[in-house]
Amino acid sequence: MVSIEICIGSACYVKGSSQVVKDLNALVEENGWKDQVEIKGSFCMKSCQNKWGLGIRVNGKQLQGVTMQNAKEMLKNEISAALN
Ligand code: FES
Repeated sequence: MVSIEICIGSACYVKGSSQVVKDLNALVEENGWKDQVEIKGSFCMKSCQNKWGLGIRVNGKQLQGVTMQNAKEMLKNEISAALN
């Protein structure tokens, strides 16, 4: 099981976190990962203050450099790696 937390704080919302949630749901659907990926919302995880891009954790690891544009690809890579 891969656990993904996406920040729902205001700074991330402005940067498109709601679009990332949509993209992530689509990714899970496309790859048949429904039973293997758990998606949760999270409060601010300080990515905004650290200029790490959108606040996203994969199995507790906080990603850096995520944007609305690259999120789907980055998450695909992270999930694939975590499942293998
Ligand atoms: S608002 Fe998302 S990390 Fe701070």
